[in-house]
Amino acid sequence: MKCVVNKIRAWKRLERHCKKMKKIEMRKLFDDDNERAKKFSLQLDNMLFDYSKNRITEKTMKYLLELAKVRGLEEKIKEMFRGDKINFTEHRAVLHTALRNCSNTPVYVDGENVMIKINEVLAKMRKFSEAVRFGEFKGYTGKKLTNIVNIGIGGSDLGPVMAVEALKKYRAKDINNYFISNIDGTACAEVLNKIDPETTLFIVASKTFTTIETLTNAKTCRKWLIDALGEHAVAKHFVALSTNTEKVKEFGINPENMFEFWDFVGGRYSMWSAIGLSIAIAIGMDNFEKMLEGAHAMDLHFLNTDFAHNIPVILGLIGIWNNNFFGLRSNAVVPYDQYLRYLPAYLQQLEMESNGKFVSKENEFVKYNTGTVVFGGPGTDVQHSFFQMLHQGTTPIPVDFIIPAISHNEVGSHHQILVANVLAQGEALMRGKTVKEAASELAKAGKSKEEVNFLKKYKSFPGNNPSNTFVVKKIDPYTFGMLVAMYEHKVFVQGVIWDINSFDQFGVELGKEMATAILPELQGDAFGITHDSSTASLIRYIKRLRK
Ligand code: F6P
Repeated sequence: MKCVVNKIRAWKRLERHCKKMKKIEMRKLFDDDNERAKKFSLQLDNMLFDYSKNRITEKTMKYLLELAKVRGLEEKIKEMFRGDKINFTEHRAVLHTALRNCSNTPVYVDGENVMIKINEVLAKMRKFSEAVRFGEFKGYTGKKLTNIVNIGIGGSDLGPVMAVEALKKYRAKDINNYFISNIDGTACAEVLNKIDPETTLFIVASKTFTTIETLTNAKTCRKWLIDALGEHAVAKHFVALSTNTEKVKEFGINPENMFEFWDFVGGRYSMWSAIGLSIAIAIGMDNFEKMLEGAHAMDLHFLNTDFAHNIPVILGLIGIWNNNFFGLRSNAVVPYDQYLRYLPAYLQQLEMESNGKFVSKENEFVKYNTGTVVFGGPGTDVQHSFFQMLHQGTTPIPVDFIIPAISHNEVGSHHQILVANVLAQGEALMRGKTVKEAASELAKAGKSKEEVNFLKKYKSFPGNNPSNTFVVKKIDPYTFGMLVAMYEHKVFVQGVIWDINSFDQFGVELGKEMATAILPELQGDAFGITHDSSTASLIRYIKRLRK
């Protein structure tokens, strides 16, 4: 019998419960229960997860946990960790958890303990990153390599970009990291303008080694290097991170200069693998391994903790509650830490590429919403951009607030002001301000009766906007690893509830195919394809402008 998620009893019960919860104000729940924050928060190491500012009661959590149970989440988590081929459309295991399995317990795929090759690559990464950092692996002309350029896109870019920035304080002072991802020639040109070929190491990062953006950028950089230093310099200035040895050879990079990973590592889950080489060079392998340890701690927590106290499980379920029952399709991620400013972009790929799916495991088109629109940016900056809509828009937008108690830059009272802001935003979004309260404030401020009546609605806030708050001690490699792994597992939990495959990405193919077909039309006079009239006229117009 096929299981249709939104028809099961646990789902229907949540629908009924939600109807009642829609009438309840969060501020009332807080006013009625002094213990609410304590009841609805969890802790792992120094990370506190407060989810009390959601439209939930103990009953809600009971019903959500029941949903997780009947969806078989416990068994699904075990399947992932033990290397079952849960990526069922591509028949692959999903083992980013093995990449950071610091306990080194064996993990088998097709009878092979993959920890052996994972540890070999980690050792190779240590040797190479240290040789670069200490100037033992030099450029062709004997100079130290101080410009590290990662060429990759999507999962082969977003993790390293985010981590190198998040852990900037741990970076070697004489190493400069650059990232080229976009096919837009500007991305390449802007980096190449800044660097010196003699001191540059290009890291070509591509799981498949067939991605047009990465290969085109890598070819341009290769030509730039050869024009300056000659063909023989390539071996000293280019390394590859890939699962595809043949394609790496074809490109002209010696497989000895290749750091391998495997098809059981999804692109957007690959930061912990060889794809992290630019991170390791930037912050050192010891710190890279601390990041793995933090992620491993979250993995063990996810695997071994009962669901009621399991941070990624609760986070995922709260997301389901907001999305599928309250109809809130988006989620703002707002780290109050400048160094975490690339986290929202990273989570955008992680969540939207993983769970933006419309066919279930049962091979049916789903009849409920999947995926969440993720966006965000660093606080307090974004308080001055999209927060107006959070406070007075017509649809609530759930928010994840992230704040370290201690900043890496304790300058004057900056951090206290930052903390005051994050706490104020969460409270304001939850509590809001009624029309009556707004009127009384206006009257107290000496406004006339007419002004009070005119302004009171404009000055009111609906409140009742859900948010989660994460407090950590400091953004260090370990904590950062924990945080990212937590979001990975949140995505997993939601994929299980929605009965979809969170580990393929066929949705990116159609646009790629069509771009390949349009390219010759832009480059020459070929008109092989019948386009809709809009696309056809756009092609003609652009060609005319470029003439
Ligand atoms: O956008 C699709 C995608 O396949 C992502 O999943 C992946 O992270 C990115 O392209 C880059 O792929 P590759 O590492 O194979 O170049």
